[in-house]
Amino acid sequence: MPLYRPSSVPASEITPEACYLDRRTFLAAAAGAVATASPAFSAPLSVTAGNPIANEKLTPEKDVTGYNNFYEFGMGKEDPKANSGDFKPDPWSLTIDGLVTRPKTFGLEDLLAFPLEERIYRMRCVEAWSMVIPWDGFPLAALLDKVEPLGDAKYVAFETIVRKAEMPGQSGFFQPLPWPYVEGLRLDEARHPLTLLAVGLYGKTLPNQNGAPIRLVVPWKYGFKGIKSIVRITLTDRKPPSTWNLAAPDEYGFYANVNPKVDHPRWSQATENRIGEGGFFGANRRPTLPFNGYADEVAGLYAGMDLKADF
Ligand code: MTE
Repeated sequence: MPLYRPSSVPASEITPEACYLDRRTFLAAAAGAVATASPAFSAPLSVTAGNPIANEKLTPEKDVTGYNNFYEFGMGKEDPKANSGDFKPDPWSLTIDGLVTRPKTFGLEDLLAFPLEERIYRMRCVEAWSMVIPWDGFPLAALLDKVEPLGDAKYVAFETIVRKAEMPGQSGFFQPLPWPYVEGLRLDEARHPLTLLAVGLYGKTLPNQNGAPIRLVVPWKYGFKGIKSIVRITLTDRKPPSTWNLAAPDEYGFYANVNPKVDHPRWSQATENRIGEGGFFGANRRPTLPFNGYADEVAGLYAGMDLKADF
């Protein structure tokens, strides 16, 4: 069963009615909040929420926005929320260049003009915790279509902004990572309909700590592939560098597909801890699924590959 569904399918056909009504009521309120939160974020939200993801609960918003990684704002899980208040995601420009017919720089208004969809995705961190998050965004493929990749483009490289004055993690004495943070996908992964550029979550403008104003979401890969606050996307014929692979190549591969059979060198990937569901002594641990549960949709991208070698 797909873990997402196209916007043409009414939520009521898929979701138990009580859940559907709750989500509709919530989103109606949230859509109003979006309109007031940021004048730029005025594109209508097409309400495609409500996929139960096998009856898993949404992770509470306070956990989604209060416990994550964004090293530009510090290394602790609570640092991104605590230290990102001065970051200014508007105005913004995102340049797409490299092996494309029409290189282009998009302003925030151009990005928010893409038709937005809500996608509820199960997310899995390499640190063996997981969340279920309602993102608002549009397929990366829609953006790529605008610039028309050339036939020899095989990969897509992504780059985060460097802004030392607003990102304390980039200016402190100890620099844990080289900046800018960079990531990459194969072009077919980038064009997959599950691959999203998110501009919001929980029906609201994306908070700074989650990658405002625009970030990548690839739900079958470990969370570190989800590069935040993107300023450049480059089509290329060479496999692009990725920050965690540069930092620790034995621990973080280019592919980073969620794979319970390939352990991280320092811990098992067989199970995961669902954030926000309480429990103790491992009571809320659950098995990790191949490709994070999206195998039906994406396993074909890796047919014939040895995923232990290409981890
Ligand atoms: N993007 C940038 N620019 N800098 C980062 O440090 N951390 C990554 C990813 N994207 C990171 C980043 C990691 S390790 C994770 S787990 C996710 O962001 C977590 O953020 P999220 O919960 O908002 O997806």
